[in-house]
Amino acid sequence: MMSENEKIRLLKERRSIRRYDSRPIEDDILTQIFEATRWCWSAVNRQPWKFYVIRNAELISKVAKECTTGTFAAEAPVLVALVGDVAAQPNWYLQDMCFVSLQMALAAWNFGIGTCFIGNINREKVKQLLNLKEKDYLLTILPLGYPYGGIPEPRPRKSLDEIVEYFD
Ligand SMILES: Cc1cc2nc3c(=O)[nH]c(=O)nc-3n(C[C@H](O)[C@H](O)[C@H](O)COP(=O)(O)O)c2cc1C
Repeated sequence: MMSENEKIRLLKERRSIRRYDSRPIEDDILTQIFEATRWCWSAVNRQPWKFYVIRNAELISKVAKECTTGTFAAEAPVLVALVGDVAAQPNWYLQDMCFVSLQMALAAWNFGIGTCFIGNINREKVKQLLNLKEKDYLLTILPLGYPYGGIPEPRPRKSLDEIVEYFD
């Protein structure tokens, strides 16, 4: 089991990874990532998410082309489409989906697997490629892969003074 410091390190040392090794991700590791992800919190515990795992090379290439600001996804051995069931949670699906995306990123990082949140996606095209329903909400595509070429330097963060204010 990870020590307390290791848990904090997992949070602080995660980086967005945009270059991936072609090495496949072992089935068992992938399952463990999803297993940890499903424990994410959600409004009234509705868990309005579904994860579509794309490992077919042709489909990876087609989907990556629609990731406007994340065409690097084409390199990854696995893409995960994070899809929200809007009808199941009309008020909070967006928050729930954002939380679960971070949980997945951190779970992957725990196994040395990198990802990057891709924000700009031609969502209608990807939904068609995956045969998703019109009302489904595609939050993001998370590419999963072992980092290629090392771990990037950390991006700067605001200081604690800038973001925390105490009322004692
Ligand atoms: C909502 C959101 C959208 C993002 N969209 C993109 C994107 O489209 N392409 C990309 O390369 N990175 C994207 N990122 C990654 C951020 O650029 C990255 O998290 C930020 O620069 C901090 O770097 P770090 O994750 O390595 O700490 C996105 C992150 C978030 C949370």
